[in-house]
Amino acid sequence: GLSPADTAKNAAACRAVDFVEDGMRVGLGTGSTAAFMVRRLGQLVREAGLRVTGVPTSSRTAALARDEGIHVVTLAEAGWLDLTIDGADEFDPAFNLIKGGGGAHLQEKVVATASDRMIVIADPDKDVAQLGAFPLPVEVLQFGWEVTQRLIAELLEGQDVASRGITRRMGAEGPFVTDEGNFILDLHLGRIGNPPALALALNQIAGVVENGLFIDICDVVVIGHPDGHVTVRD
Ligand code: A5P
Repeated sequence: GLSPADTAKNAAACRAVDFVEDGMRVGLGTGSTAAFMVRRLGQLVREAGLRVTGVPTSSRTAALARDEGIHVVTLAEAGWLDLTIDGADEFDPAFNLIKGGGGAHLQEKVVATASDRMIVIADPDKDVAQLGAFPLPVEVLQFGWEVTQRLIAELLEGQDVASRGITRRMGAEGPFVTDEGNFILDLHLGRIGNPPALALALNQIAGVVENGLFIDICDVVVIGHPDGHVTVRD
């Protein structure tokens, strides 16, 4: 049996997969919730003959999707996607998101914005009135990253946020390195007063590759609860 937390994630994942129709090209998100979605999709491919083409958002998801028997192609090969299903670290009432807790938000944002529709799957803990309690991930080039961090710190002075700490993400054996070979800076902001303004300003800084704010990208949020029931918001 699944733990209550995993029951919630799995319930959201299975409900979201109901949106997938035969022949669709589907973006496959990254993270523990998205992994339940990839497994459910694999089950339907193997047992119900569902035909889908999957575009993964990380090396981890690519490996899982292949294991599950899903036909995996690159985004370039797919050209455009019908649907992307992905997790999130936070979502607000406007369906703006913080993503990148798993360090994959760069590919996730590219894939989601190349899709007709993005569905977020989440548990109730991710539902927030205002974004920012979860540290905001910003992917930066390794080249000159200390200068990039300083420029981000200067930018934050002029932003409506509650706190301004920045840490470089670490892995087991030194700095965390993304699939694209970059570092992640986590911005400890507490509260983000104006997510669209911050998202735009961060991406203006040289050395910033992509920030983890998803503004006006998500269309539907599917929330799974620990007792297994699901609520859909759109
Ligand atoms: C990966 O980079 C993230 O954007 C994930 O979507 C996010 O961290 C959610 O992960 P969980 O489903 O494991 O909470």
